[in-house]
Amino acid sequence: MLGNFKLSIPTKLYFGKDSLNFLKDELKNYGPVIMLSYGGGSIKRNGIYDSVMSILKSEGKTVIDDGGVMSNPTVEKMYEGAAKVRDNNVDLILAVGGGSTIDYAKGVAASAYCETDPWKTYYLEQKDPVCKIVPVASILTMVGTGSEMNGGSVISNHKENFKVGKVFDERLMPRFTILNPEFTYTVPRYQMVAGFFDIMSHLLEQYCSNFDDNTTDYLAEGLMRSLIHSSLIAVKDPKDYEARSNIMWTATWTLNTLLKMGKHGDWMVHMIGHAISAHTDATHGMTLASVSVPYYKYVIDGLCKENSKGIEKFKRLAVNVFNVSPEGKDDRQLALEGIDRLADWMKEIGVVMHSSELGVKEDMLEAIADSTVTYHTDYYKFERNDIIEILRRSL
Ligand code: NZQ
Ligand code: ZN
Repeated sequence: MLGNFKLSIPTKLYFGKDSLNFLKDELKNYGPVIMLSYGGGSIKRNGIYDSVMSILKSEGKTVIDDGGVMSNPTVEKMYEGAAKVRDNNVDLILAVGGGSTIDYAKGVAASAYCETDPWKTYYLEQKDPVCKIVPVASILTMVGTGSEMNGGSVISNHKENFKVGKVFDERLMPRFTILNPEFTYTVPRYQMVAGFFDIMSHLLEQYCSNFDDNTTDYLAEGLMRSLIHSSLIAVKDPKDYEARSNIMWTATWTLNTLLKMGKHGDWMVHMIGHAISAHTDATHGMTLASVSVPYYKYVIDGLCKENSKGIEKFKRLAVNVFNVSPEGKDDRQLALEGIDRLADWMKEIGVVMHSSELGVKEDMLEAIADSTVTYHTDYYKFERNDIIEILRRSL
């Protein structure tokens, strides 16, 4: 285990069917004005809005309604939310929804009292806030991003064709998060499986980096196995509590910074996915699914050509996660068979396998590559041409 690091995750978690009961106690720690941020209306249809509102009212809170947060939240919406926080002296932003709503809430919390342009300062220049920050808390209704226990906030600027994430420090991590697996039962199948793949992608992006023996990789393998097992149950029966609760827990631990310790991470699949999303507004997890198989095959070929030690990680993935027998196979065959098994699992849960299914066309590849933040990872020195080639193979 190499590297020096700090692990600090201040988010308090309440997990399980009865976890909403703890909201009442938590609210006592905050002032009277609560901004209730939520998405396009799912929480009104499934009753979560009414349950939360009745607790807020019984605690005598003034509620500032802040609905309409779209998937892939926009910079314009973030500015609107920031103005609402200032105008109403909000004491706590309570985000009820998926990653989009929680990411948005963090952006708003850091922007409300920011004296410079928040998009430029936080997202383009990647600076940290120096102004007053409004506390954020979350009630999760859609599983995948890990936003419920991290400082990540991904914002889209469609005018600039750019979707970019800022990982804020622990001041922006939700103060508390309520995780009730039953709240996720109404998530449409397309979104549900996109979330499952998002989790897998977060695991792979952290696992496929570095060359040392690191406990974190063993944790990631366990989480991948659990995700594969539970996801296959959940696609058959979305109301299987055991499967949905395990997936919820897996998603949270996958991206709450624990698996990042001592790891560089890869994250190029996310960079390409964000660029696809900036051009198509496609669902996050599906953008990742659409490029992952060609991406990892491309990396494996590069590692084999260079005779790099990085190939060991893909052999290990094949054997430890996808139960591929190493017998009679050379490094490349074994590594590629692991990716073939990954593809089998993806097809079984029903995610998008081609970027053309998301609206990507041959004549868009150069523009998408231009919107992709591209860098050299531990396992491949990516340049613009590599991104175009991976995108072409993903069509
Ligand atoms: O908007 P509503 O009406 O609530 O509907 C949402 C939305 O249409 C629906 N939904 C959520 N919970 C539901 C439900 N529908 C019925 N019943 C429920 N219980 O699901 C749809 C998708 O929701 P969204 O929040 O957009 O999905 P997700 O959680 O996948 O979040 C995606 C965003 O998070 C960012 C992505 O880039 C994207 O912008 N990410 C954030 C990360 C982080 N904070 O660390 C990391 C991730 O890699 C990711 O980039
Ligand atoms: Zn993701």
